[in-house]
Amino acid sequence: MAAASPLRDCQAWKDARLPLSTTSNEACKLFDATLTQYVKWTNDKSLGGIEGCLSKLKAADPTFVMGHAMATGLVLIGTGSSVKLDKELDLAVKTMVEISRTQPLTRREQLHVSAVETFANGNFPKACELWEQILQDHPTDMLALKFSHDAYFYLGYQEQMRDSVARIYPFWTPDIPLSSYVKGIYSFGLMETNFYDQAEKLAKEALSINPTDAWSVHTVAHIHEMKAEIKDGLEFMQHSETFWKDSDMLACHNYWHWALYLIEKGEYEAALTIYDTHILPSLQANDAMLDVVDSCSMLYRLQMEGSHPCSPTGFCLFLPHHEERVLWPRPRVGQELMGVSVGQRWQDVLPVARKHSRDHILLFNDAHFLMASLGAHDPQTTQELLTTLRDASESPGENCQHLLARDVGLPLCQALVEAEDGNPDRVLELLLPIRYRIVQLGGSNAQRDVFNQLLIHAALNCTSSVHKNVARSLLMERDALKPNSPLTERLIRKAATVHLMQ
Ligand SMILES: [Fe+2]
Repeated sequence: MAAASPLRDCQAWKDARLPLSTTSNEACKLFDATLTQYVKWTNDKSLGGIEGCLSKLKAADPTFVMGHAMATGLVLIGTGSSVKLDKELDLAVKTMVEISRTQPLTRREQLHVSAVETFANGNFPKACELWEQILQDHPTDMLALKFSHDAYFYLGYQEQMRDSVARIYPFWTPDIPLSSYVKGIYSFGLMETNFYDQAEKLAKEALSINPTDAWSVHTVAHIHEMKAEIKDGLEFMQHSETFWKDSDMLACHNYWHWALYLIEKGEYEAALTIYDTHILPSLQANDAMLDVVDSCSMLYRLQMEGSHPCSPTGFCLFLPHHEERVLWPRPRVGQELMGVSVGQRWQDVLPVARKHSRDHILLFNDAHFLMASLGAHDPQTTQELLTTLRDASESPGENCQHLLARDVGLPLCQALVEAEDGNPDRVLELLLPIRYRIVQLGGSNAQRDVFNQLLIHAALNCTSSVHKNVARSLLMERDALKPNSPLTERLIRKAATVHLMQ
């Protein structure tokens, strides 16, 4: 494993051509310690944890602008607080801007302040432009790189997420602190744009330098997921677990990926065991948005899953890359299509989701909060979420998420409601026109697959003759994109039982 670099003081940041406007070496080192933990997705006790470092940093130099930009930026990028509802966060943004005006700053620092302020206003694309301006002249500015990477992820800007790192990657020579982590960041963008081989090579390089690099582990997990390499994925997670399980900001999500393989295999109880052992405890301990999203997504997927034994009296549909024709069974008499019971688990997620139902920071988060309020049968929270989202969409200003709410976010939310109400035809009518725009809600391809599955299940259950062949079309697409997926094969069997296609 690579030795940890010493934390950089004022001179070291200057030598790196990333000077910081403070005379406090302590503040500079704490800035580095916080940045390091952000990049590693880990609150490192030996460094004092992110919260601990930020409070000491503030004490070391209360007017250190880059300290303010990082502290406020980290809260905002966590997407759990909005300046509209959280007065403390609103004040933090204003304080950062005011302090920045009282002292001479470098152009780079000014851009950081503007980018964080712009992100706070919900204009993520403009914030990314500002971070990119920094990276053009300062390609080794890790804070600009990470913030823009995360913002691109929220925007669903997959190519930008990849190319943003491609542009600066050659500048990250091995002697620069955290350089191996840039490989992991780059590999994620490559993976999301289907360059799986390049992505895997880079992620494995990063892991050979730092096996605890949880983000690179995560990229490899995604690659196995996207290629339906269930056995390889499970083995990889099992063998690497010891290295990433203490990454307190990402371990939950890596366990979520582990559970996805189990859902693919149809091992629902094992998936629920991971949920109960790792995902829910992390949600309850951290209240992090990624944990909420993971919890909702997992429970929702499990509910959509069902048991559909193959019937020997089935019929065939030819799928081009399969070696043999796939049997599409007819249902046996009395055979029911049952979802997996998640018990009372929605009730555990609801309190966290309810707290954020009026935030409207990310439409992607909103859709997941809604899964929780629907799953827990809490009409009040459902109504509050939908009403306030509609209000936000009517006066969006420069907020990119509110601008997207009318055309994409609200139809998706309404589709979730219709699914809950047992109106699959309505779900189809709402989702089909926007299916290629859902990427704009951000998140990863693997995360958004929950919406693909929702659409397929709706198509499977619809009654209108207009929608007769939609399920078959969707499933053929899915199978072409991700061959050999047991989940797809189960859905194909279900399609046969429901639609009797011949
Ligand atoms: Fe992921």
